Amino acid sequence: MTPATKPLVAFGAGKVILLGEHSVVYGYPALAGPLSFGVTARGVPARSCQLDVPVTADAAQKRLMRKAFARAARMVGEPKVKVTLEARLPLSAGLGSSAALAVATSRVLLQAAGQEPTAKATARLAWEMEQEFHGTPSGVDHTTSAEEKLILYRRVQGPSGVTGRAREVKSPRAVSVVVALAGARSPTKVTVGALRERQARWPERYRRLFAQVGRLVTEASKAVEAGDLEGLGDAMNVNQGLLGALGLSSPALEDMVYRLRGLGALGAKLTGAGGDGGAVIGLFLEPEPVVAKLTRDGVRCFASQLAGPRAQGVHS
Ligand code: MEV
Repeated sequence: MTPATKPLVAFGAGKVILLGEHSVVYGYPALAGPLSFGVTARGVPARSCQLDVPVTADAAQKRLMRKAFARAARMVGEPKVKVTLEARLPLSAGLGSSAALAVATSRVLLQAAGQEPTAKATARLAWEMEQEFHGTPSGVDHTTSAEEKLILYRRVQGPSGVTGRAREVKSPRAVSVVVALAGARSPTKVTVGALRERQARWPERYRRLFAQVGRLVTEASKAVEAGDLEGLGDAMNVNQGLLGALGLSSPALEDMVYRLRGLGALGAKLTGAGGDGGAVIGLFLEPEPVVAKLTRDGVRCFASQLAGPRAQGVHS
């Protein structure tokens, strides 16, 4: 493989799941949108295909990153490029940092290999990396990151293996959330694995709950398309109740959910894997004053617009 000849740069967005985390692993739909924060990958010509792992990563993270990188690099013929990463979103907080890393890295690897980094080609390569990070991911995280749109996503078991199907969900109104961090987060692999054990033990009970979540996701995406943010918010609140029933919430997450509702959220719920702690989202018509108040109170938070027309001055 010929060495890359010029410096390359690519971005991978973080994500939030508006509704449908976990049930998406079992083939039900999820509604997810990209954050404007994410991971930037840079590639420079080198003698071999290498990843310069971030110094802030711990030993286990570094090992995993190298393994995931090697898997993706092999798929594009190991172009001679050295990739460095810069993250601008909280790591391991349920905001899709591994997917953002996988997407940014895949885009650089594809370019270095002389291939077009289309959303489809990027998602295919990022999926390989995500499997190293998460074992059996549904694919919603890296697909949202690669598409950079609010999407309705479904994992599909086809004859040649697992794939994902996504379609854009357009909104006539701005869909803006406040993302707030609460408690110490459990790794996604752990929450997904523990739920799988409960589901295997009581399959019919859990199937009913997943199906309920799936129906909420369909209703929520219709609400988005109709500009019915109140309907979307209510679906988010009911989804949070079901996530609690699935054993995925915690006192720290519930406190933050109620705090956001107390500040006027149309809907609030955990986002991502949940567990002991992690990220909580609140749907707000005007997110900025909420971010200012929570920040004054010492909460790590930010606002992001996931869909709809961009108003001037809206932080996304
Ligand atoms: C993690 O962001 C979302 C989960 O549904 C896992 C997955 O979809 O692979 C918990």
